[in-house]
Amino acid sequence: MLRLVFGAVGITLLCKILKGCLSQTSVMLSSVTWVTALLAGIFSGHIAQRLHFPYFWKDLFFLLKVIRYGIQLEIYKWTKRVVTVIDRFVQQAIEIPNKPFLIYEGVTYTYQDIDKRSNKVAQVFAERGTVKKGDTVALLMSNEPDFISVWFGLSKLGCSVAFLNINIKSRSVLHCFNCCGAKVLVVGADLLDTLEDILPSLQEDNILVWAMKKETSYPGVNTLIDKMEEASDKPVPAELRAITSLKSPNLYIFTSGTTGLPKAAVITHLQSLKAAAGFWAYGGSADDVIYTTLPLYHSAASLVGIGGTIEMGATCVLKKKFSASQFWSDCRKYNVTIFQYIGELCRYLCNQPKGENDKQHKVHMGVGNGLRQDVWREFHQRFGKVRMCELYGSTEGNLCFMNHIGKIGVVGRSNFIYKLLFKYVLVKYDMVRDEIVRNQRGFCESVKKGETGLLLSKINSQSPFFGYAGSKQLTENKILRDVFTKGDSYFNTGDLMAENDEDFISFKDRVGDTFRWKGENVATTEVTEILGLVDFIQEVNVYGVEVQGNEGRAGMAAIIVRPDFTFDGKKLFDLAVMDLPSYARPLFIRLQESMEMTSTLKQQKYQLVAGGFNPSTITDPIYFLDYSQKCYVPLTTSVYESIVEGQCKL
Ligand SMILES: *[C@@H]1O[C@H](CO)[C@@H](O)[C@H](O)[C@H]1NC(C)=O
Repeated sequence: MLRLVFGAVGITLLCKILKGCLSQTSVMLSSVTWVTALLAGIFSGHIAQRLHFPYFWKDLFFLLKVIRYGIQLEIYKWTKRVVTVIDRFVQQAIEIPNKPFLIYEGVTYTYQDIDKRSNKVAQVFAERGTVKKGDTVALLMSNEPDFISVWFGLSKLGCSVAFLNINIKSRSVLHCFNCCGAKVLVVGADLLDTLEDILPSLQEDNILVWAMKKETSYPGVNTLIDKMEEASDKPVPAELRAITSLKSPNLYIFTSGTTGLPKAAVITHLQSLKAAAGFWAYGGSADDVIYTTLPLYHSAASLVGIGGTIEMGATCVLKKKFSASQFWSDCRKYNVTIFQYIGELCRYLCNQPKGENDKQHKVHMGVGNGLRQDVWREFHQRFGKVRMCELYGSTEGNLCFMNHIGKIGVVGRSNFIYKLLFKYVLVKYDMVRDEIVRNQRGFCESVKKGETGLLLSKINSQSPFFGYAGSKQLTENKILRDVFTKGDSYFNTGDLMAENDEDFISFKDRVGDTFRWKGENVATTEVTEILGLVDFIQEVNVYGVEVQGNEGRAGMAAIIVRPDFTFDGKKLFDLAVMDLPSYARPLFIRLQESMEMTSTLKQQKYQLVAGGFNPSTITDPIYFLDYSQKCYVPLTTSVYESIVEGQCKL
C-alpha cells in the first residue's frame, strides 16, 4: 500500500516535471505524443505490478533525466534555436573562461585557451580560403589538445570533420578520403612520417596536407603551427557554424567495415548532443574531473568524453595513451572523479601489482563498455566503491542502453517506459547457419525472455539511422527490412544480447563479420583480403576465438595452402605486420585441407570458433604469431598453456 502511495507521488512528480518542461514551449507535437504514450503506459495497469519492483525509484529518476534531455532536444528542434556541442563550448568559454577544460602532460588549458586556439585554426583556414562552410576535413592526430583545437576550429567554420584511426595503414587512408569526400587533411606532427609513402598519391588526388608543425621537409605539405602563431584569436562569426537542422552531418567516424575497408559513420549534431549527455545522465556535474585515455578518433572519447566534459562544464585530463602504471597516480594527482574505460583497461589495472594505497583516490565512477563480470568484481575489491556505468551503443547506431543501476555484468536496463522511447527487439538467430531465423511467412520472431537473440532497433523519425558516407550499399546492408510486417525497417546491430526476467540486458556475442580485440573492431573480410595476397594461400577464413582472461576475441585464420606450395610462417608474418594494424593481425593460423560452407554458401565459422586453438584437441597444424622470432611458429602445448594461464602476453 505504502508503495502505491509512493508510486502515485512519483507519477504526480513525473507529470509536474513534464508539464513544467512543456510550458516552456507552445507547440511541441512530438513531445505531446511522448507524454500521451507515457501516461498511457503508466495507467495501463503495468504500474501496479511494477511497483513491487526493487529498482522502481532508480528507474524513475533515471528516466526523468533521459526524458528531460529528450525534451530539451525537442525544444531545440521546434524553436529552431539549434544549440550544438560547439555552440555549447563557445557558451562555456564565455561563462567559465578560466575553468580548466583540458589537462595534458601537466599543462592546464582553460575553456578560453582552447576557444582562442581554435579561433586561430579557423582564421588560418578562413583567410586562405582553404575550406568553406560545408566542406569535410580529415583529421589524423593522436590524443593531444590540438586535436580538439583543430576539430573545434573547423567546426566553427561550419566544416564537418572526419576522424581517421591513427593505426590504419596507407591503403585504408586513401580509401577514407573517397568515402567522406575530404579534400584537406590535417595531420599531427608525430604522424606525418607514417604518411610518407602515400603523400604523392594524396597530392595526385589534389588533397591538401597540413601538418601540425612549424616547418617540414616534405614538398607540398603546408605547416599550420607557424601560421597559427601569427593568426588572430578573435571569435569566428557565429553564422558560419549555424545549422538549420540537428540532423545535418557534423562528424565522420570510421568504423570497421564488412566489405574490407573502414566505413565512415555519419554523426549528426543530434547524435553528438545525445552522446554528450552520457556523464550527466549518470549523475556527473561541473565538479567532476574526467580521465580519458581512449583514442579521440573513436566516439567514446570524443563524443561522450569531450562532449560530456563540455556539457557539464567539467575538466578533462587527457592522456596520449593509457598507462596502467600511471593510472592511479594520475588520478590522485589531478583529483580525478570519473574515468572512461573499455573492459581491457580495467583488467590491466587489476593486473598491476597490489599497492597499499589502491583505495586512496577520489574516483567514484567509470563510464565505458565491455567490462566482464570477473574483472568488475575484482575491480571493486581492489579499488573500492567505484560505480561502473556501462554504456552500450554503436557509433552509428540509433539505440543506446545504460546500466544506471550498476548491476554487475549487464550492459543496460529496460522497462516499459524505455521500450516506449526506444523500439528495439531481440530476434531469433541461427548461430550454426550464421543467419537470422525467418518463419514460414518470412518474418522474424522475437526470442523469449532470457533467451539470446539478435538486437535490432526500429528506424523511425525518433530514432533515425544516418548510415555511412559514400555508399548507399553499406548503409542498406545494416538495415533489415520486413522484420515483423511488410515495409518496416530496423537497424541491425550485429550483437547478440539477452534480456532477463528483471529487465537487465546483457551482451552475449557479436555475429557475422566483425569481432572486437583490444578495444577495436576487426573486420574479418579486411583481414581475409590482406592475407589472400600471400602467394601460398588458396583460401582464408578469418574469425575470432575466445582466449581465457582476455576481453573480446583474438584473431585466427583457417587457411588452405595452394597445391605445390608450402606454408611460410616468415612470409605471412611480414605481410601481417606490414599491412594490418596490430589488433587485426591473426594470432593463430590453422591449416586445413578443406573448408566447410554453410547451406547459404558462406564460410562456416561457427565450428571453427567453437574449436578454438588448443593444439591438443585440434588435429590440424596450428601456428602462433611470435614477435620475438618474427615468424608464425608452430603452437606447442606449452605455449598454449602459457597463453591461457596469462603468462604469455598477447
Ligand atoms: C586535489 O584535492 C585536494 C584536497 O581537496 C587539494 O588540496 C588539491 O589542491 C587538489 N589538486 C588539484 C590538482 O586540484
